[in-house]
Amino acid sequence: MRILDKIKNLLLFNIFYKILDPIYIFLDKRHIRRSKNMQMIPSAFLRRGGAYSYAEWSYIIGVLHTIIENNLSNKSNLQILDVGCGAGLVLNAVNEFVGKNGSYTGIDVMKSEIDFCKKHYPKKFNFVHVETKNNYYSPNQEKNIAWKFPNNSFDIVTALSVWTHLNEIDSRFYINEVSRVLKINGKAFITFFSLDNDYGNFLKKDLNSKSNFHNQTRHQYVYNMKAYDSNNWFYPSWSKIPERAIAVNYTALKDMFDKSNLRITKHYKGTWKEVPGIFFQDIFVLEKIL
Ligand SMILES: C[S@@+](CC[C@H](N)C(=O)[O-])C[C@H]1O[C@@H](n2cnc3c(N)ncnc32)[C@H](O)[C@@H]1O
Repeated sequence: MRILDKIKNLLLFNIFYKILDPIYIFLDKRHIRRSKNMQMIPSAFLRRGGAYSYAEWSYIIGVLHTIIENNLSNKSNLQILDVGCGAGLVLNAVNEFVGKNGSYTGIDVMKSEIDFCKKHYPKKFNFVHVETKNNYYSPNQEKNIAWKFPNNSFDIVTALSVWTHLNEIDSRFYINEVSRVLKINGKAFITFFSLDNDYGNFLKKDLNSKSNFHNQTRHQYVYNMKAYDSNNWFYPSWSKIPERAIAVNYTALKDMFDKSNLRITKHYKGTWKEVPGIFFQDIFVLEKIL
């Protein structure tokens, strides 16, 4: 029975889905009337990162676009750095802010993602492979390497589901880099799993039941293991490698931002810890203050 279920799932959700999706989105894109930024979403063979479904990519693009728009004073010709760009999901949310004189640069530790993005997206967008090691995504690369971008060169930095894969040392190193490359008053939009009072309340719930907000069990988001020798960075016990999913104590996060001259201007709470919200992970909007 289990084997039959596996075959059924493989046929339905892998093979059929991957055959039907490119046909469906080809037709669907012709019906898009008022949201031009959905036109570049890749087909199922190529959608990777935290989200896979076409509908979910569209939803996240809309959420991010709205959040970024709502938190910017200047909304055009921006210099944008997207850290951990993956298959380019965030680009679809920010491309309107690039305008004629701005730029978008996506960086990632996975060369395959960068090669894909270079082929798939228009040439005016830049994609750069960084040689940095991440124990989950790029275990054979070098330890933290500073980005080859000048100080104060970007208006905004984005990172969707990237610091949720960084241990404490990497996290601090790259938050410093974010601050270094941001212009004064520039904004960073970075997602985390933040361990705060809401997380404390979440732990008191029935953790074996399914979430009210997403399609996984709550248990999957219990961060009960220290990531290496950190006292504030944690990962869930189901994961063999900490960098598969990492959460951070809120006070340690705040302290890390303070030390990098980044001020929290907004915190959108993530629905992963069973609080109503607009996105699964916590989104922090940070402003470089000097
Ligand atoms: C969960 S995926 C998210 C991808 C994309 N942001 C999205 O939301 O679809 C995490 C990405 O971060 C990249 N990554 C991990 N550590 C990184 C680092 N230190 N510097 C740049 N990219 C990194 C991974 O290669 C992977 O593409």
